[in-house]
Amino acid sequence: MKLRRLATAGVLAALAAASLGAVTASAGGPRPPAPRDQSLRGLAARNGLYFGTAVDAGAYADAADPQYKSTVDGQFSTVTAENAMKWESLEPTRGTYDWAAADAFVAAAARNHQLVRGHVLAWYSQLPGWLTAGIQDGSIDGPQLRDLLHKHITDVVAHFRGRIWQWDVVNEAVSDPWETPSAIHLGGNAGSLKQKFADLLGPDYVADAFRWARAADPKALLFYNDYNIEAFGDGGPGDKTQFVYDMVKRLRAAGVPIDGVGSQGHLSTQYGNYDVLAVADALDRFTGLGVAVAFTEVDARSLTKDAKDPALDAAGQDVNARDQASAYNYHVLLQACLMNPHCLSFTVWGFTDRHSWIPGWFKNPPEGAGCLWDAGYQPKKALRTVQGDLAAAGPPMVQPRQPQKPRR
Ligand code: XIL
Repeated sequence: MKLRRLATAGVLAALAAASLGAVTASAGGPRPPAPRDQSLRGLAARNGLYFGTAVDAGAYADAADPQYKSTVDGQFSTVTAENAMKWESLEPTRGTYDWAAADAFVAAAARNHQLVRGHVLAWYSQLPGWLTAGIQDGSIDGPQLRDLLHKHITDVVAHFRGRIWQWDVVNEAVSDPWETPSAIHLGGNAGSLKQKFADLLGPDYVADAFRWARAADPKALLFYNDYNIEAFGDGGPGDKTQFVYDMVKRLRAAGVPIDGVGSQGHLSTQYGNYDVLAVADALDRFTGLGVAVAFTEVDARSLTKDAKDPALDAAGQDVNARDQASAYNYHVLLQACLMNPHCLSFTVWGFTDRHSWIPGWFKNPPEGAGCLWDAGYQPKKALRTVQGDLAAAGPPMVQPRQPQKPRR
């Protein structure tokens, strides 16, 4: 399949860099990879999958925290800038670009033989202050915003041309079922910045954003990226996955150059979990449209404190149950991805609870503990689970089952 070939072309360096680990055949079958060969990038490479993380530029550059950088460099085969490629970072002053942090990030990825997911081009959030203010106070009108977005996409994609594997061209463009009106629509809550951004640009901006990105880089894979699209619901007006599916289908039918759907995968154990086959079904339906898929921002957070029950604290007795629930959420998304040959990459949104957006974002009620490693860089149950999933996803660990004959 063409998409598969695209995904593997030009990444032999990453494969070579990943330690594949020798597997010794024995009477009992292949031995599990030795601990030194259990890097996520190495285990994922056995399945042609790229395992990624978002990178916090400050932590990566912090000499006092060397384990952050060494883990990024050693464990992952694809990286996403957590904030450095967002519009607010690239053009803080109108008309003046600051490429320094993003360029340093892309250069580090090249040194480490990592593929880059470009994040993000058309998104209502983390716009520069001057732009948000103009949208809010009405001093920037629809045609002006459209021109600004066209220029932004053209300049940014051209700047990084040839160095980006997947671009998140349009991010979080549609509403959630708890917003007003509750039928899923382009935009967000009535009156919100998300809705104003969509209204000013008009419904065609999604297609245009992909066309502008394609014009600036003919080779990057162009993604629509969103959260809460891991599985289909009832197919009705409140089904966000269905809405995104229909949108992608229309875009494809109209010849818009969209190559993939990114499912962010921000999960919380307080809501339970999906199951593997439901998520696999959603991926299958998306890839049935001829696009690739990827998990782009996976984390699985938990409630860390509950005012009604002080025992439910991050350091409390619930740690084991919570860590297992988190691990199971990672497991479900990863298994589904492994089952689909067009699931190109599995990226976590931060890998250590020491540097995670979760506690700063989900405060009421407080949540945290969503990453693979704990705040002291110790492996959590989630890490051991995804390592096991990757190892068990196929050869050489998984071989035809051998019948046993009774001994005489
Ligand atoms: C988050 C970053 O992790 C934070 O550091 C920042 O303050 C806010 O944005 N969906 C996305 C990401 O597409 O860009 C967001 O990243 C998390 C939700």
